[in-house]
Amino acid sequence: MSELENLRRAALAGIGKLDSLRGVEEFRVRYFGRKGEVTRLLRSLGQLPPGERPAFGQKVNELRQELEEELAAAARAIRQRELAARLASEEIDVTLPGRRNRLGHHLHPITRTLYDLCDIFRGMGFVAVDGPEVESDYYNFEALNIAADHPARDMHDTFYLKPGLLLRTHTSSVQARTMERCSSVHSGLRIISAGKVYRCDYDATHTPMFHQLEGLLIDRGISLADLKGTLIEALQRIFEPSVEIRFRPSFFPFTEPSVEVDVSCVNCRRGGCSLCKGSGWLEILGAGMVHPRVLSTGGYDPGTVSGFAFGMGVERMAMIRYRINDLRLFYENDLRFISQF
Ligand code: DAH
Repeated sequence: MSELENLRRAALAGIGKLDSLRGVEEFRVRYFGRKGEVTRLLRSLGQLPPGERPAFGQKVNELRQELEEELAAAARAIRQRELAARLASEEIDVTLPGRRNRLGHHLHPITRTLYDLCDIFRGMGFVAVDGPEVESDYYNFEALNIAADHPARDMHDTFYLKPGLLLRTHTSSVQARTMERCSSVHSGLRIISAGKVYRCDYDATHTPMFHQLEGLLIDRGISLADLKGTLIEALQRIFEPSVEIRFRPSFFPFTEPSVEVDVSCVNCRRGGCSLCKGSGWLEILGAGMVHPRVLSTGGYDPGTVSGFAFGMGVERMAMIRYRINDLRLFYENDLRFISQF
């Protein structure tokens, strides 16, 4: 009986010190396992004189019940503490202000410029059409009066994919395609086409990929005066109404006559600065009256209709507009640059 009492005290003290579920389990094995202390006491019953067995047996059972209850209570308390600790550590303060999602910046300056240019020409009745970037030699050169041995091909630094197939070097290829597609349906055309073009060239003012915007108008009685009027109107809208515009004679195989168009430097207003390299003028586009051979290749009768065309570099427009001196900035995707627009 005194051994029983000692065991009880030791066990209760042990339960009081338990602080983990693992400890609870170890305790259970130590006292109630096959070789556990309480089990051993129950086994020793047989060694007692028969008269003492019922009273001792009852005592051991009471002890077992008491210890099991205490142990269960200890386990409950430990579980509760663990839950409380977890809740505390995982607490979410719903009253804190949320973390803001960074929205993408609305439009890249090239895209912005491209959209603005398209808007201006759409407002003048031009319809936007698309063409492929992987283009045939025929539409990029041949149909635009640039024969295989034409020296103008050298200027284009063409990326060839295989003989006869290339990355278009200018959006003028869309002129050729559209004329061919539409000449049997429409007696005239008024289109723009914008997109990526490719040339094997890389420095501060050239990237292997850049954007162009092309325009083409065909109808009866179109003259150079229409070309001038259209471009002056468009350029004054793109830059500012007071911008001065200059037409210089030039050469393109697909136009005759051909012109290059300059605007007065938006930076110095013809005073001379680094943007215009001291000349006071910025060269911004090529244009001209569609060459009769290009018209007839496209299915139009040069005796009945005439047309004008123009092509401009979108990057160049954006550089002038935002006064940026290094083209490569547009493609580095440095947010410190991009988010200024
Ligand atoms: N395709 C020419 C280029 O990439 C630009 C150009 C000049 C387009 C005159 C035209 C044009 O439509 O008439 O340099």
